[in-house]
Amino acid sequence: MSVRNKLIILKLGGSVITHKSSGRKMVNRKNLERLSLELSRAQKKEKFSIIIIHGVGSFGHIIAGKFKLNDGFKNKKQVKVIPLLRGDLEKLNTKVIKTLMENKLNTMAVHPSSLWTLNNRRLKNANLDMIKNLLKLELTPVLYGDILTDSKLGFSILSGDQIVYYLAKKLNAVKVIVGTDVDGVFDANPKINKGAKLIKEINKHNVKQFCVNASTAVDVTGGMGGKINELLKLANFGIESEIINISKQGILEKSLRGKKGIGTLIVPA
Ligand code: IPE
Repeated sequence: MSVRNKLIILKLGGSVITHKSSGRKMVNRKNLERLSLELSRAQKKEKFSIIIIHGVGSFGHIIAGKFKLNDGFKNKKQVKVIPLLRGDLEKLNTKVIKTLMENKLNTMAVHPSSLWTLNNRRLKNANLDMIKNLLKLELTPVLYGDILTDSKLGFSILSGDQIVYYLAKKLNAVKVIVGTDVDGVFDANPKINKGAKLIKEINKHNVKQFCVNASTAVDVTGGMGGKINELLKLANFGIESEIINISKQGILEKSLRGKKGIGTLIVPA
């Protein structure tokens, strides 16, 4: 049993591992298999520990949105839906784990809702013993965005991005990789604006200018604003992160093997 000290936190975006925009609960097998292979190749070549957090895409956002589950308890209908949503999330997590295992990655599911609670949507003083123990055993913990009980709101959604922030900070990660289906952060929406430019580096000074200019981009790239907020907080603790496009072949492997500047870096000022 050994503790490898270089810890990477990786988020696999729900838009990459599921067919998010199809509106159906469908895994994007092709992407998931390719990403597992890239992970396994990188792990053979470099020595690092890793925690994987996956998004939930179409397995979570549709029900969560329809029943306004992120607003906390409003009615009993919502409560009835929670176990159904939980079932869907576990199904997706099992598929992710299975694919990773088929590619010789030793992983273990960690279900956030069985482990932690929230207080007004935020994770505080969460017990990390299980995750630390898994890392010591060289088993890769695989977590996901989930619905948790919330001491103030009854229940609320814990996004994968918040898990990334919390674990990176508490476990002192050397690097955070946020994998999405866009090349990084743009100064306008790249899907509708051909002239949109990729921002290579964001820090707490230039983000103000970016937010003022690009509110539409933040909106339409689905929660990019939320991601940047969590990652800037990490940068304040000296932890660098990069938002990359893992829907493109080879990008994840390059990033895991230490290549920088292939997406948008979020850096300490
Ligand atoms: C959302 O998790 C969790 C639920 C809706 C239950 P994420 O926010 O991490 O998922 P993606 O990456 O946007 O799909």
